[in-house]
Amino acid sequence: MPFNTIFEPFRIHSVEPLKLTTPIERRQALAAAEFNLFSLRSRDVIIDLLTDSGTGAMSRDQWAAIQHGDESYAGSPSWEMFRDAVQNLFPFKHVIPTHQGRAAEKILFSVFGGAGNFIPNNTHFDTTRANIEFTGAVATDLVIDEGLDPQNLHPFKGNLDPIKLEAFITKHGRENVPLIMLTVTNNSGGGQPVSMANMREIREISLRHGIPLYLDACRFAENAWFIREREVEFADWDVADIIREMAALADGMTMSAKKDPLGNIGGWLAMNDDDLAERCRTMLVLTEGFPTYGGLAGRDLEALAVGLTEAVSHDYLRYRIRSTAYLGESLAASGIPVVQPIGGHAVYLDARALLPHLSPLQYPGQSLAIALYEAGGIRGCEIGTVMFGRQPDGTEVAAAMDLVRLAIPRRTYTQSHIDYVIEVCQQVADRSGALPGYRITREPKALRHFTSAFEPIS
Ligand code: F0G
Repeated sequence: MPFNTIFEPFRIHSVEPLKLTTPIERRQALAAAEFNLFSLRSRDVIIDLLTDSGTGAMSRDQWAAIQHGDESYAGSPSWEMFRDAVQNLFPFKHVIPTHQGRAAEKILFSVFGGAGNFIPNNTHFDTTRANIEFTGAVATDLVIDEGLDPQNLHPFKGNLDPIKLEAFITKHGRENVPLIMLTVTNNSGGGQPVSMANMREIREISLRHGIPLYLDACRFAENAWFIREREVEFADWDVADIIREMAALADGMTMSAKKDPLGNIGGWLAMNDDDLAERCRTMLVLTEGFPTYGGLAGRDLEALAVGLTEAVSHDYLRYRIRSTAYLGESLAASGIPVVQPIGGHAVYLDARALLPHLSPLQYPGQSLAIALYEAGGIRGCEIGTVMFGRQPDGTEVAAAMDLVRLAIPRRTYTQSHIDYVIEVCQQVADRSGALPGYRITREPKALRHFTSAFEPIS
């Protein structure tokens, strides 16, 4: 479109009211939640940017597909529509439906994990890491160095470093590296894309050592759009063809259909290997369900089949990536440090840079996220030392970065909602020097960010 306005390629069909809370109400809610934003009641949140996972708006056609769902236990036509839609973009031989991404991870690593195994990724998402560590295997992040520098403008900061990967395989021995994972886009590293050139390089290493390559492909469409915009070879390609090209470089994938496939629930595991698929299906029956529905209802399978066709629309992806950039660029223009370039599904505020008076073990990300909620009812998510600081041996170390992620649900908020977010962030940034550090007063054994209790350090 020859205009600069960010054009939402849809109009509103059904509305959900937002409750406007006062700062006093929000302070009470924070105290009741013991300063853990995951413990807030969502009705006390005005703009919920906690996650882009399962929080998007489904389309008219997806809701219509819900009505069309066939709930047969075995062999439902809804399953066939889902499988065909998945294989249209990811032509893997076996598609194994799960109720969400971590269920696919759980099954995959019950086969590939186990003590003595080492599994590299650009950056493991927290559930991926936890599922690997649960089996006794070691999860290692090997993103390129540029991906760890919040201000570096590298166009593909999600790339997995091929030199680090070679050294990793040499160090641990090929027989102890059962799988290479590649997360597109790299969520924990700032929502940064992986280039096709990098995927080809990693594929070459995977083939040379005979180690299977799996994509954690939750945000495959956003990644493909970045490839189209930033890798000259793909400038004229249809995004669906870019996705098929990505899939052709891998042996399999895990998926959370709560992201780019525009579902509120869902996921899958896919692969070419027959024996492996057989073992995974056996696990699926134990933990999820029969192979033609996995952990899902027939209606969910149909909504996802439609979502997969909408996710690759160029009008939608242009709007999606542009509207996320709008938030990030507006914050950066007002002097707020954000991870650059702006990623696909979220804007990441650099809390360590904005709150230099706090050490990482005083959780600057947590402090900033709490302040945004208190000031404007905006819920973001700490991605830093709270999430990653506790080590399997019980020690605590600073995470590579202390970020606050403002994740943008798909097709859900309008530009004026985002303008409000920008205003609240500016207000908090103006008094960031006065924000307190936090300490943890109660902590579970794993995934502590979900349920820990906090208190401000006075
Ligand atoms: N992999 C990545 C890269 C993810 O971002 C997520 C979820 C998963 C796997 C797990 O999928 O939630 O369906 O079980 N990310 C969400 C988020 C929760 O907020 O980033 P799931």
